[in-house]
Amino acid sequence: MRIVVTRNVPEAAVELLRGAGQVHVCERDQALDPAELREVVAGADGLVTMLGDQVDGAVADAAGSQLKVVANVAVGYDNLDVPALAARGVTVTNTPGVLTDATADLAFALLLMATRRLGEAERLIRSGEPWFFHLGFMLGTGLQGKTLGIIGLGEIGQAVARRARAFGMRIAYSGRRRVAADVESELDARYLTRDELLREADVLSLHCPLTEQTRHLIDAAALATMKPSAVLVNTSRGPVVDEAALAEALRAGRIAAAGLDVFEQEPAVHPGLLELENAVLIPHLGSATVETRTAMAELAARNVVGVLTGNGPVTPVEA
Ligand code: GLV
Ligand code: GLV
Repeated sequence: MRIVVTRNVPEAAVELLRGAGQVHVCERDQALDPAELREVVAGADGLVTMLGDQVDGAVADAAGSQLKVVANVAVGYDNLDVPALAARGVTVTNTPGVLTDATADLAFALLLMATRRLGEAERLIRSGEPWFFHLGFMLGTGLQGKTLGIIGLGEIGQAVARRARAFGMRIAYSGRRRVAADVESELDARYLTRDELLREADVLSLHCPLTEQTRHLIDAAALATMKPSAVLVNTSRGPVVDEAALAEALRAGRIAAAGLDVFEQEPAVHPGLLELENAVLIPHLGSATVETRTAMAELAARNVVGVLTGNGPVTPVEA
């Protein structure tokens, strides 16, 4: 069996993969362009992919009809054309669960940075400008009693909600469907329509997958519905937010601040955002801990091994 890994992954994962076949790792840290990708996958039975690798029917065809599994080292899989792969009999897997806490921690870090103006504060100290403690100095907003609005109360959304509860926040959410009653009652979470949520949230945090339905979910109209004091946090996928509309809303004070881990055209960031003190900008670090990245790569490897040895995938994506 030939297994192709599109970028460097922790050695523990490569070791696991060697149990199922010959492993070819593209030893670089950047996504391959479509032509390079089609070239390296030739003859692959299994493929380990990452954010930025666009795997569609053409890539599967370039691999050949023996291709059985594409294992994405991410919980999001908007970079994969799942129907096209399923139509070719290819199993698709992702890495749910293992990155829930790391991503929720990062979302909460962005929430705190944005509400307490910590990026701006750090830049102030480093600028060498004089500063002194006074009662009106760099005031942010407190969290206690405020409403955290969550779009997409899945595993990560729930983990963010638990953190927010510990900070004394109230939880409201919207999404395609209501979560189980016991989850709602544990989090004391109210299910609202999206419009109600936009109107009520003091902090709005996005935890939905990127799909055709969620692309530009937060557009100029949504931003105009939010409170002028509201803070937006995005650790999901960049295109869920219309970045140009967000830059304009932040500039005009239509919302107070934003904390962003993801961008529409990564690694590019809308130039309008770079100029703003009230935008906290982080380079897609949601799952970036040693423990989590290792667990993600190992889970992807176990998915490949499971499919190629006939034992079945661990965490398949529904086609
Ligand atoms: C990272 O963004 C992921 O989807 O795991
Ligand atoms: C602030 O530093 C305080 O002591 O209240």
